[in-house]
Amino acid sequence: MRVFAPATASNLGPGFDVLGLALERPGDLVEAEVGDRPGVEIVEVTGAASLTTNPRENVVGIAAAAALERLPGPARGVRLWLHKQMPLGSGLGSSAASSVGGAVAVNALFGGALTSDDLVACALRGEAAASGTAHADNVAPSVLGGIVLIRASDPLDLIRLPVPAALRVVLVHPHAQVLTAAARRLVAEHRFTIGQAVANLGNVAALVVALHRGDLALLGRSIQDALVEPVRAPLVPAFAEVKRAALDAGALGCSISGSGPSVLAFTGSDAGADAVADAMQAAFTAAGLESDRYVGPVNTSGAGEVSGRPSPTDRLRALDRALESNQPTSGTDEVRADIERGRDSG
Ligand code: HSE
Repeated sequence: MRVFAPATASNLGPGFDVLGLALERPGDLVEAEVGDRPGVEIVEVTGAASLTTNPRENVVGIAAAAALERLPGPARGVRLWLHKQMPLGSGLGSSAASSVGGAVAVNALFGGALTSDDLVACALRGEAAASGTAHADNVAPSVLGGIVLIRASDPLDLIRLPVPAALRVVLVHPHAQVLTAAARRLVAEHRFTIGQAVANLGNVAALVVALHRGDLALLGRSIQDALVEPVRAPLVPAFAEVKRAALDAGALGCSISGSGPSVLAFTGSDAGADAVADAMQAAFTAAGLESDRYVGPVNTSGAGEVSGRPSPTDRLRALDRALESNQPTSGTDEVRADIERGRDSG
């Protein structure tokens, strides 16, 4: 069984820790199977050499253990494979996606008794271990999909907001890293004025109204952050130039995605989104940085099981396990032939 958990953009300008949205891609893949011992085993992590397979130290294991604990019934065991498909420290909610993948995979494997609030709570344990605080603005949209308002974290009160059909998200990730915990310390140590707080209150409220009305012009005016963006802008190489380029190319609004260094912009059409992404990438290039782009609509489905034929590697692994336990097998030659041809039909 395999689960896809999408990347997310959080804050959305003025909504520090209270607004986030899910992207169609990238996202992490988590494969899971029932283990023969209670608890979590991480069999393998691919795509991120720095991540451990110690389940108490990897967010996928921490969130999976929280989900096992929360499920009704006897103690159970799970074996996990985490396939990282996005950069760490990117502002794309990498730790949230892995955490959500772990919790959702465990729930799907054992009958699906957990609610979406349960899944967010479990994934928050992973997020807290990674960033130092249990902020839900990446985890909640990764679980629920769409654009989510976190009215409160304790107890959780999550509100899914409408997504205007024409809205397009442009995410540009420069090849640089920002550690969320350090970026959060910058904010925690800063003294803000009441004027800055008032500006953000007005913009968050207007952004919510804009989504309800499908008013993209109002949405654009609301993507302004007087609190966190000025404090963190120095962490994002060439941020001022990239933001200027996005707005000059017609973006409705532009800000840092999460704690950066990815930069988020909105447009009202596919063609507009491509033009904005081109301009943002050109600005990063001019500053000497390579970048990747993720352009498209908001992902309104959130994390879930992915069907389809498993990749040859997965099938070979399953066959090896079956052979080890003397279960009847079939298709070994076909799988090996697929691998030799380098073809992944998954
Ligand atoms: N809201 C969080 C922050 C998102 O800006 O620190 C990063 O995980």
